Amino acid sequence: MSLYPAGRFPAYRPRRLRQTPVLRQLVSETQLNVAQLVLPLFARSGRKLRRPISAMPGVFQLSPDELLREARRAHELGIPAVLLFGIPDRKDDKASGAYAAKGIVQQTVRLLKKELPKLFVITDVCLCEYMDHGHCGLVQRDKTGARILNDSTLRLLARSATSHVEAGADMVAPSDMMDGRVRAIREQLDKLGFDQTPIMSYAAKFASAFYGPFREAAESTPQFGDRRSYQMDPANASEALREVALDIQEGADIVMVKPALAYLDILYRVKSEFGYPTAAYAVSGEYSMVKAGATKGWVDERAITLESLLAMRRAGADILITYAAADVARWLKEG
Ligand code: PBG
Repeated sequence: MSLYPAGRFPAYRPRRLRQTPVLRQLVSETQLNVAQLVLPLFARSGRKLRRPISAMPGVFQLSPDELLREARRAHELGIPAVLLFGIPDRKDDKASGAYAAKGIVQQTVRLLKKELPKLFVITDVCLCEYMDHGHCGLVQRDKTGARILNDSTLRLLARSATSHVEAGADMVAPSDMMDGRVRAIREQLDKLGFDQTPIMSYAAKFASAFYGPFREAAESTPQFGDRRSYQMDPANASEALREVALDIQEGADIVMVKPALAYLDILYRVKSEFGYPTAAYAVSGEYSMVKAGATKGWVDERAITLESLLAMRRAGADILITYAAADVARWLKEG
């Protein structure tokens, strides 16, 4: 049966409500708010270091002191949370830097929580930035090639997550896509008394070309092969829903869809199917494309960024993770 029975529908004339800005705002179905934004930041060791990432204008690898400045500026604009990635000085085949008590992320978290206690600090939990081969898990090589060792990777992920929380992280976000990692991290956190610390899981993470610029930023390009054995096939939507269901069963508090703009259908289905707190990650490639177009004068950066984020909200995202968060906060303030 139709939602709009004939004869009754024409009585409503939305056009009138669109005439004045106040009314438009009062009846708008979706809002974009600074309180929904998360800013990703890249930490690496050093002092006064701001190393530009060529494919992501405005984004830098930052030493902890500089990262603190950037986080403070964002927080003053009303951005409630940051998402931290680390680039270690040395990489190996066990990702030691990922769970070192004095690792770059652990160090930066301590500094942020000391100087900005109200800033909500989320850490990305993954091994790729810390592995010499650039994969997200332990790799076994033999005559037949190389394989990712899913189950032995879980222990290292749980160790990384707990080391972040011990340093003061408010939430951990596993992005590795190993099977069973949410449960492994949950159990380890609970065991150590961190049962109140939530997990935001990269639940539907697709093997995507949109991550290209990030791999420059995090220096995590796989040295052989690709991530298709553990990240999802862009052709599959039902599989994404199954992945999300599994992560919820394993104890995820927030589920994420990534990338965002090319996967709005997934976002919509995840939100309608589970009604769970849902995050959308507007990834590096999405950011770079807008920047490139804007630099050429081909698109309006502000309009296109705000419209894209609004579309993610409309599709079902509660949380918006975006490299443009500080600009967005400024634009929202200007009105
Ligand atoms: C690490 C990780 C990646 C991103 C977030 N965490 C890269 C990847 O899976 O290759 C991508 C973020 C972005 O492109 O902005 N596993």
